[in-house]
Amino acid sequence: AGNRTFTMIKPDAVADGNMGAILKMIEDAGFKIISMKYTRLSADLAGKFYEVHKERPFYGELVEYMSSGSIVAAILEKDNAVADFRTLIGATNPAEAAEGTIRKLYAKSIGENAVHGSDSDENAQIEGNFFFSQFERF
Ligand code: CMP
Repeated sequence: AGNRTFTMIKPDAVADGNMGAILKMIEDAGFKIISMKYTRLSADLAGKFYEVHKERPFYGELVEYMSSGSIVAAILEKDNAVADFRTLIGATNPAEAAEGTIRKLYAKSIGENAVHGSDSDENAQIEGNFFFSQFERF
């Protein structure tokens, strides 16, 4: 078992053909994929997902980018899932991301940063529930 986090592989990484490589890194790091979908967010849904950032100067850009192409959304399970996943993806800004992290390898910029990872257990649950119904969260 263990606990859960939520991730998205973002439009830049999917468009660049890095979806498979990123999923491989996630599995190799010991995360079990509980639920997963390949989909696309409307601007309206991207705006809702990132509502906590509404007052930030980059909000409009973030919503436009996150609705610009296909994404992968997934619920992951591992002991210490939230913190371990944030270690695996690296810092938000790829220029500050550690060697060997997903963002160091695949992110283009602080905005187009390849992957999302929940920042708390509470948000992991909220974000997983945003994408997956109770019947899809085994
Ligand atoms: P994420 O972990 O998905 O959570 C919020 C997102 O906002 C973040 O990844 C980045 O994609 C984006 N973001 C954060 N800071 C900035 C910034 N200064 N400029 C543009 N986008 C940002």
